[in-house]
Amino acid sequence: MFETAQAVQGVTAVDLYARYPDFNIDVDAEQAQLVEHDVIIFQHPLYWYSAPSIMKEWQDLVLEYGFAYGQHGHELDDKVFMNAVTTGAKHAAYSEEGMNHADLRSLLAPFEKTADLCRMKYLAPFVLFGAGRAVEEGRLDVHRNAYDDLLKALVAGRLDLEQAARTDVMTDVLDDFILKAEGV
Ligand SMILES: Cc1cc2nc3c(=O)[nH]c(=O)nc-3n(C[C@H](O)[C@H](O)[C@H](O)COP(=O)(O)O)c2cc1C
Repeated sequence: MFETAQAVQGVTAVDLYARYPDFNIDVDAEQAQLVEHDVIIFQHPLYWYSAPSIMKEWQDLVLEYGFAYGQHGHELDDKVFMNAVTTGAKHAAYSEEGMNHADLRSLLAPFEKTADLCRMKYLAPFVLFGAGRAVEEGRLDVHRNAYDDLLKALVAGRLDLEQAARTDVMTDVLDDFILKAEGV
């Protein structure tokens, strides 16, 4: 998925662990990069119903009062935020009846609330469930292609943001959300 993102023109793919092996995050550089982008995607494996620790550190330091939120913190207003997630557990585990008794979007509430506080538009998470079996079940290429489509649609402003914000999760319903170019 990271390689897919790297290959899309208009996308800046950042590996936080490679950029900050000692967790010493450059807040000014990160904030400057945020300002330059319209869409912020947290792409990560699900770790304990959340993101790996460096992403929490990044949030704690970079999303400062007066920059991201607060009366004078408007730098992220109207940007789009999304989690692109892989999980160990199957899709069925993320439902009221399933093992986790909740859907994934509900469990990712801290990200949605953070986006809300920073006045960003939160989209439903784009998810590869049961990632460990995706290759043998032939789902990885399908998912990578869908991610490629999704990123290109975001770059081109062809994603129906209202629909993508409303749904629980983005996986196989993606085709419905991408607006076709006129005449196609
Ligand atoms: C520390 C840790 C915590 C994890 N927590 C969860 C979890 O809460 N829910 C889940 O479905 N999978 C969980 N997993 C499984 C990972 O999400 C899964 O291995 C990953 O998405 C697959 O991507 P990868 O091939 O990049 O590791 C966890 C894995 C690790 C190592």
